[in-house]
Amino acid sequence: MTIFRQAKWNEPIVYEISRDSKEGVLLDEEFRDYALRFLSKLPKHIIRDSLNIPSLSEVEVVRHFTRLSQMSYGVDLGPVPLGSCTMKYNPKICEELASDRRIVEAHPYLDEEDVQGLLEILYTLQKWLAEIVGMDVCSLQTPAGAAGELAGALMIKKYHRDLGEGHRDEMIVPDSAHGSNPASAAMAGFKVVRIPTDPRGNTDIEALRAALSKRTAGVMLTNPNTLGLFEEYIVDIAREVHGIGGLLYYDGANLNGILGYARPGDMGFDVAHLNLHKTFAAPHGGGGPGAGAICAKGALADYLPVPLVEYDGRKYYFKYDVPRTIGRISWFYGNIIPAIKSFLYIATLGPLVKEVAEVANLNTNYMLKKLSALPGVDLVYGYGRWRKHEFVISFEKLYKETGVGAEDVAKALLDRGFHAPTILFPLIVPEAHMIEVTETESRENIDNLINAYKEIINIAYTNPSEIKRCPQNTSVKRLDTVYGNLPKNIALTYRSLKGKTA
Ligand SMILES: Cc1ncc(COP(=O)(O)O)c(C=O)c1O
Repeated sequence: MTIFRQAKWNEPIVYEISRDSKEGVLLDEEFRDYALRFLSKLPKHIIRDSLNIPSLSEVEVVRHFTRLSQMSYGVDLGPVPLGSCTMKYNPKICEELASDRRIVEAHPYLDEEDVQGLLEILYTLQKWLAEIVGMDVCSLQTPAGAAGELAGALMIKKYHRDLGEGHRDEMIVPDSAHGSNPASAAMAGFKVVRIPTDPRGNTDIEALRAALSKRTAGVMLTNPNTLGLFEEYIVDIAREVHGIGGLLYYDGANLNGILGYARPGDMGFDVAHLNLHKTFAAPHGGGGPGAGAICAKGALADYLPVPLVEYDGRKYYFKYDVPRTIGRISWFYGNIIPAIKSFLYIATLGPLVKEVAEVANLNTNYMLKKLSALPGVDLVYGYGRWRKHEFVISFEKLYKETGVGAEDVAKALLDRGFHAPTILFPLIVPEAHMIEVTETESRENIDNLINAYKEIINIAYTNPSEIKRCPQNTSVKRLDTVYGNLPKNIALTYRSLKGKTA
């Protein structure tokens, strides 16, 4: 199996190999004269006589940056099976087109008539996304999923207040939810009510019924949920939530699992966010900023954040007069570049977009079948059910039998050239690995990952300390879970100071 050997952390830094005698560029006379003439025109007080940058030869500069790139891991190097993050490969055609100077250099204060092309793209994207999720209107103002959640929670709050129902101060969130759901609800001023998950992996409908009351403002769900399981009672849930006057919020982080097959709007959701950087392939996490969209149905559409992009039959324009808008949720018009990548991704795939979910589901269930048969691995929820785009396995049994837990297995995967999956989440699964291989990984890559798991589990049963020492092949070794890469003495001082103030 390929092992990606990463650069070692103890390489000398560029300042250590810097020497005054080294020079990376030779300026020709003409350019030197030009630079000196230019400098002589500048006010003296803004000119420095020394600059603390290292003096290096060209080859040292190239090696420095190449080494830095090797210390990182991204989807251009190998699979990133981070469950709930949908880290799919980002087509280079989208990158290239979205990097057009006319896009990246467009200033947010340009007049609308000078950016008609850009506005047309954003307008079309709003329409496509609304169609994809089965909602009436979408706003691209939100720069991430969590920002969409906050926007949605604020919209729900304002909606109830306008109806004279300001007493609705509870938001119901299942215990399988991503942490940003309860956090966003709390930031919007709601009391968060937690609902358990039933053994099949659904939101426990009896517990939900018991929690619904006159104080319920809404329920936040993702479907498929973070266990990769489709909510079997979603239509009943929607009916009951609406029956008591509440609203249903859709966390779109898992849309990849049902893309083109099922629409949150048809399931009964009133407002939905999309993580454009996940489902529609723009790099995120370490790879770049995200973009969200927040979409709504019916009366709730009047509460969307502004501006929306509209078309009056002659020109595209920013629309600010949305009757009951919650206002802005971020700067200017949202994160336009990832939004444009999403537009290009959807435009490129067209009706093939359905295959995204098909292949993601196929890859997931293939891998789940292989991994769940391994010793030390358990499922906890939803035995016998098909998953959508992701699945969660538990290493609790392995931990009890060998002392090797989910974190150790993850570190051993790094040594074998893979990015680790999401670990220890969702919180309801002990020693969890949440795995999402996405549709962009080939059978060979998935088999390699399965084989890596097999090998790690075998070693865990025969020589557990070898796994507990991982990673050995990465640029940094095992980091302190809380203090990361802080030098030990600083971490210890910090810890002892915290101890004193606690
Ligand atoms: C299920 C779920 N909901 C919400 C979010 C928040 O999305 P974002 O990271 O775009 O803010 C995530 C992020 O990983 C998620 O997995």
